[in-house]
Amino acid sequence: MKGIILAGGTGSRLHPMTYAVSKQLLPVYDKPMIYYPLTTLMFADIREILIISTPNDLPSFRRLLGDGKQWGLTLHYAEQPKPDGLAQAYVIGADFVRGEPSALVLGDNIFFGRELPALLAAASARPSGATVFGYRVRNPEQYGVVEFDDQGKVLSIEEKPRAPRSQWALTGLYFFDRHATAIASSVKPSGRNEYEITDVIRTYAERNELRVELLGRGFAWLDTGTSDSLLEAAEFVRALERRQALRIACPEEVAFEMGFIDKTQLERLGRAMPNSEYGKYLLGLASEH
Ligand code: DAU
Repeated sequence: MKGIILAGGTGSRLHPMTYAVSKQLLPVYDKPMIYYPLTTLMFADIREILIISTPNDLPSFRRLLGDGKQWGLTLHYAEQPKPDGLAQAYVIGADFVRGEPSALVLGDNIFFGRELPALLAAASARPSGATVFGYRVRNPEQYGVVEFDDQGKVLSIEEKPRAPRSQWALTGLYFFDRHATAIASSVKPSGRNEYEITDVIRTYAERNELRVELLGRGFAWLDTGTSDSLLEAAEFVRALERRQALRIACPEEVAFEMGFIDKTQLERLGRAMPNSEYGKYLLGLASEH
């Protein structure tokens, strides 16, 4: 299975912070934002990943992440000239995905939960159809919203509805079978002139091939869209990490846990950051094993 991280856009809600730096490279406490969605894909055992960003920002992503070999990954890069919508990821990534199943994650989406790796493994093991994840929120009108009946059958999917039909937002993590590119290519621009991912998801629902997993209690899906939510996300990560003396979303640690790299490589990565607490953490992990 292949992975795509969509990390473009103008970051306009965070101006002036994002004038010179891509939103998805801003820190969330102790690491760049993109580490969070990247490790989400790694937990799903996805090792071949396409990173899509703006022509301006792509060189910074390359500088940060390289070819991915250091973490046992293969990373590819592609430009999105204009932020014309999330579904465009599948048009830009058509050659990369080449008729295989794939997962798309937004570069600013942060997921946390002990059960997450198991849910992701189940989603990636499904041979056909699409799997998306719903999260109950206070402000569904700001997201894609899914409505279902008592039996869990999907009744509607709407992008940022004025009058939401449920509290369940669609998170920015999507698993699609090999038909995603064909479906995304047939999507027409919406009222706000974007190729909407919700239109791709609705097509799967109409074909009766959509599965919606609800992330209930015990899961965190954090927003990073405003200065306040960005700070709150950082505070969440800080509280967890300080209390347990464990870090979350470190690609080095996840790569080691998933068996993508060995202990010697983990040590090497730690030694490359001798002055940072992060580097010391990696060295501590290696010496524990
Ligand atoms: O975060 C989940 C939500 O993401 C979903 O509930 C919505 O259905 C989905 O449309 C999307 O809504 P947003 O309003 O958050 O989308 P936004 O335009 O802010 O884009 C999300 C991220 O993707 C953001 O970091 C910028 C990036 N992006 C966006 C567009 C439109 C791109 O890289 N390229 C694009 O063309």
